[in-house]
Amino acid sequence: PASTTRLAQGDLAVGGVSLAEAAERFSTPVYLLDEGEVRRRCRTYRDVFPDTEVLYAAKAFLSRAMVRWVREEGLGLDVCSAGELELAVTAGFPPERIVLHGNAKSPADLDNALRLGVGRIVIDSPSEITRIAAALGKRDRQKVLLRIVPGVSAGGHDKIRTGTDGQKFGLSLTDGSAQDAIERVLGRRRLLLAGLHCHIGSQITEVEPYLAALRRMVELMARIRDHHGLTLTELDLGGGHGVAYRPGEPALDLTALAHRVRTTLAESCAAAGLPVPRLLIEPGRAVVGPAGVALYRVLTVKRTGGTTFAAVDGGMSDNPRPALYGVRYAPRLVGRASTAPTHATTVVGRHCEAGDVLAAGVELPADLRPGDVLAVPVAGAYQVSMASGYNMVGRPPVVAVHQGTARLLIRRETLADLSGRDIGG
Ligand code: LLP
Repeated sequence: PASTTRLAQGDLAVGGVSLAEAAERFSTPVYLLDEGEVRRRCRTYRDVFPDTEVLYAAKAFLSRAMVRWVREEGLGLDVCSAGELELAVTAGFPPERIVLHGNAKSPADLDNALRLGVGRIVIDSPSEITRIAAALGKRDRQKVLLRIVPGVSAGGHDKIRTGTDGQKFGLSLTDGSAQDAIERVLGRRRLLLAGLHCHIGSQITEVEPYLAALRRMVELMARIRDHHGLTLTELDLGGGHGVAYRPGEPALDLTALAHRVRTTLAESCAAAGLPVPRLLIEPGRAVVGPAGVALYRVLTVKRTGGTTFAAVDGGMSDNPRPALYGVRYAPRLVGRASTAPTHATTVVGRHCEAGDVLAAGVELPADLRPGDVLAVPVAGAYQVSMASGYNMVGRPPVVAVHQGTARLLIRRETLADLSGRDIGG
């Protein structure tokens, strides 16, 4: 998690910045991002996966500073819309190191990707093949990968499992749609089929599903070699690397993953008589999740119907994950020392839904009161990027903390921002 150091009793610092002071200076809710921790995580990936192209999945969190950090640490980028692509490129990311994803790429997504010259496009449906070929016109060839459904189920919640038939992503191996798409791509001279892609799910904490998917991919590569005489050179295993949201929860062991992927790939390729392809991975959450901390201020505390509720000034508009995936966080009191005994407290947001719960029955000091600051660790991924305008609360700012200084990356959304688009009609 974001490197925390103890300051005065009851205070905590991330990136050398006191959480209590940050809450005061930037107001709440606010998201802090530990730049050093993001960079260390990028470096860990480079160290643990030395011969692998590591693409940061921008959907987890994207900002101009994040783009810079990722580039400086030597990672590539995975984007899935013209918007993510535009921000990345205008922030200085080299397009050739960007991969475009998406199950339903809009004309703007494809046109911009081709105009800017993204390195690879991951094809998710047969109609895209025709569309990309047409949009390319007389331009150069475009490197593409095909997204395959390997038939391996994994992931922290049904809504983020993408490895089997019956969900919307990719091309199935069981009904011939993958084989059909391969033939179609090979029939297009301007599409250069470099390899295969799969992404089996998100918040995965076991290595085994990755190995199972890898074996299926290598089998398909062997069939493509046998049927079409083509040896693919790239294999993208997607992202999904799980992190611990609460103390004691498992996280994916990246060292074990790297080791076993490398040996399994070597063995499977040797058995199939294939050269080992270049490996790509696309971690999002594991790069940025543990580097983020959300700070909220307690607005009310009440005991009713046998439950103690502490309601904070944010909630499902800045973090929809508990409502969507049933995830529970581990908030803690910062900014003051409390000697009170702890008490099971349900931390809820300020939104108009009973499902707006950040943490149910967590132990917090019994003297918790309005004005207190709660810090929620592991808040860096899929929170700011999934924030909404619900209840017109305004999306929180994002602040980089690094070596004792805090700098604003994304400002708070104001009421003027929120109401300005409504032109009255
Ligand atoms: N590659 C592809 C093609 C993906 O669809 C995703 C995530 C990733 C890579 C990165 O996965 P990661 O390493 O971050 O798990 N909103 C959900 C997670 C959705 C993941 C969507 N795709 C959540 O908050 O848990």
